[in-house]
Amino acid sequence: MLEIINAAVERLAAQGAMGAQVGLILGSGLGDYAEGLDNPKFVNYADIPGYPVSEVVGHKSRFVIGERGGKKIIAMQGRFHFYEGVPQSLLALGVRTMKQLGVKTLVVTNAAGGVNTSYHAGTLMLISDHINYSGSNPLIGKNLDEFGPRFPDQSDVYTRALRTKLQVLSASEGIELAEGVYMMFSGPTYETPAEIRMARTLGADAVGMSTVPEAIAAAHCKMQVIGISLITNMAAGILNQPLSHEEVAETAGIAATRFAGLIDLILEKLL
Ligand code: HPA
Repeated sequence: MLEIINAAVERLAAQGAMGAQVGLILGSGLGDYAEGLDNPKFVNYADIPGYPVSEVVGHKSRFVIGERGGKKIIAMQGRFHFYEGVPQSLLALGVRTMKQLGVKTLVVTNAAGGVNTSYHAGTLMLISDHINYSGSNPLIGKNLDEFGPRFPDQSDVYTRALRTKLQVLSASEGIELAEGVYMMFSGPTYETPAEIRMARTLGADAVGMSTVPEAIAAAHCKMQVIGISLITNMAAGILNQPLSHEEVAETAGIAATRFAGLIDLILEKLL
């Protein structure tokens, strides 16, 4: 784990990433944002020894180093997922690499299914909290004390003070931003209608297959976290239609400009 992180830090530092303040993880269909950063430089995950590479369509599998609002940003254009067969501890690599580069705040994004029936395809949801229903945890295994404690507190994973400020900012800019609980399933199957009824009963507003491991790893090493879900579809059983990755990608494409506006607001005015 540490060797892979050190190798990644070395390659990223060679592209000027040292001193990045903000880390950005871009979810399904949302990766193009990274290419719009000022002065982008690229490091492929495949060029970092030991780094897992995502094979999901719509994920590019590289770091992008760039600037926005005068701040240095390190973005992950594409991430790997638990359902690809990697242990969750490896899903912490990107976040821990960012930590070593100096990142103080992680902005983590995803495409998600809407469980809250007041949502619709295209709703942007600020993550207030999560339910880790994935069946695993990125901190399983030997604790790396240099990153954080064995039994980390989880009472403010998605930094409340930033959420409060972002809601005020986005309202003043006319960007509609829901706020709710994200529940992680392992995937790769989409959920059944019964699982979605369970998720709603348990307090979830959205469901997805990512984000939670990265947010846990970030909170463990005392990063601030902002989580954004783009609701690309209503979850199974809510509308009378099947779910597909094509629908997810299509909605992400249609919402890309609004999504970019929100991320710009976060990078330029909130952080
Ligand atoms: N379920 C799980 N993950 C998802 C969904 C969904 O409905 N939509 C996009 N990612």
